Amino acid sequence: MNPAPKPGTQAEVARVLARHALGWLVAANAVGVLLAVLLLWPDLNDELLGSLTYGRWLPLHLDWQLYGWCALPLVGVLLAWCLDARQLGAVAHTRVVLGAWSLALALGGLAWLGGVTSGKMFLEWHDWARPLLPAAMTLLWTVLAAHVWWRRDELGGGTKAARVLALLAFALVPAALYWSAGREVYPSVNPDSGGATGARLLGSTLGIVAIYGFIAEVLGVSRPGRRGWFWGYFVFSVAVCAGIEHGNASHHEVLQVVGLATLLGWLPLAWLYFRGGIGAPTARRWWGAAFAWWAALVGAGLWTFLPGVSERLKFTNGMVAHAHLAMAGLVTSANLAVLVELRALYAPRGFWLWQAACVAQVAVLLALGWLETGHAAELFLSEPWTQAIYAARLAAGVAMLLASVLWWRGISGREEARHDDAE
Ligand code: HEM
Repeated sequence: MNPAPKPGTQAEVARVLARHALGWLVAANAVGVLLAVLLLWPDLNDELLGSLTYGRWLPLHLDWQLYGWCALPLVGVLLAWCLDARQLGAVAHTRVVLGAWSLALALGGLAWLGGVTSGKMFLEWHDWARPLLPAAMTLLWTVLAAHVWWRRDELGGGTKAARVLALLAFALVPAALYWSAGREVYPSVNPDSGGATGARLLGSTLGIVAIYGFIAEVLGVSRPGRRGWFWGYFVFSVAVCAGIEHGNASHHEVLQVVGLATLLGWLPLAWLYFRGGIGAPTARRWWGAAFAWWAALVGAGLWTFLPGVSERLKFTNGMVAHAHLAMAGLVTSANLAVLVELRALYAPRGFWLWQAACVAQVAVLLALGWLETGHAAELFLSEPWTQAIYAARLAAGVAMLLASVLWWRGISGREEARHDDAE
């Protein structure tokens, strides 16, 4: 006979998770600030850092943001979905899994600083570092599967089947990551701009839509009456994606643009699906901010893909603006909402500090990207106006770093403890 759930287990699991996730956000932001300093004063590289060049530090910023900050709150959702809170070891299992995950990221950082890298953005895992994260993912999978097994009598038929199917799909992820980090594997590229094709962009964005749809279901923040529309449009979008040309498709092809434009449908749908005052009240403004970033992302992403605009912005700071719009804007706001829903945080401070600094960072980078093509020499020679833009970006970065430190410090604060006690 299984014991009753231990009170507070899920909240403690979430807090352990938040310490890792926000810890990586702080670390990756600190590296981002270092990069912003080096862009402003490139000579500091030789004077202070020797062989630890800008290029060696960049993967730490990118991969710690992606696999640390962007990924771990989603791991938190999976833990909440699968973990058996009646098991005395639930918190300990979480600590071991997240410890292994963080160790992989720390060792990865050492590898990249030492120049051991595949050279592929976000897939830098190479040589001895290549199996690290797949191994941590396999450990996570094993713990999730064990807990679902222990809960087999408690779970109903449909919910059990959903978890088993998800686990079967997740079993492929470690091998897929290991394989795709290989230098011999390349994504399909648009021959006209050197960027991703419309089909590829649509496919990866639909992957993100599916993840957020799933999160909303697990956290119970979706409106039940709107599910049919959401998932119906998802099936339609997947069919569009499958129907347009893959491989070397150009952004001058109308169907590639039309395919990507189907993403506009997600603006009203996401609004209706998430709307309705469901979920934790202190998470609402983070969901609202995530929606505003999502709307800006879909609009700006489509505009950036158009013939003429794409050529002008490709390989400029305009793309860096896009990356921060997506990850620092949308994903960060959504992840804060998730951490609040999971009870890892109660009411994180620094909402406006982060949002304002992130808007400033994205705006100045987009402006620089837009002007850059015609003024490449001025940027390269550090003219005062380009330096002013990089300085504004650095100031915004410092503000974002500060906000992330506030969140990290707020994890086990008194506010959260009071909130849990009141439950
Ligand atoms: C303290 C705040 C931040 C600062 C100062 C900062 C700074 C930087 C710098 C200097 C670069 C390199 C740009 C280049 O080499 O041209 C960069 C790239 C990038 N950062 Fe950040 N960043 C910050 C926060 C974030 C956050 C929170 C995320 C994601 C959650 C993020 C995701 C990225 C991505 C994806 C890129 C690659 C952009 C590209 O090359 O297209 N950054 N960041």
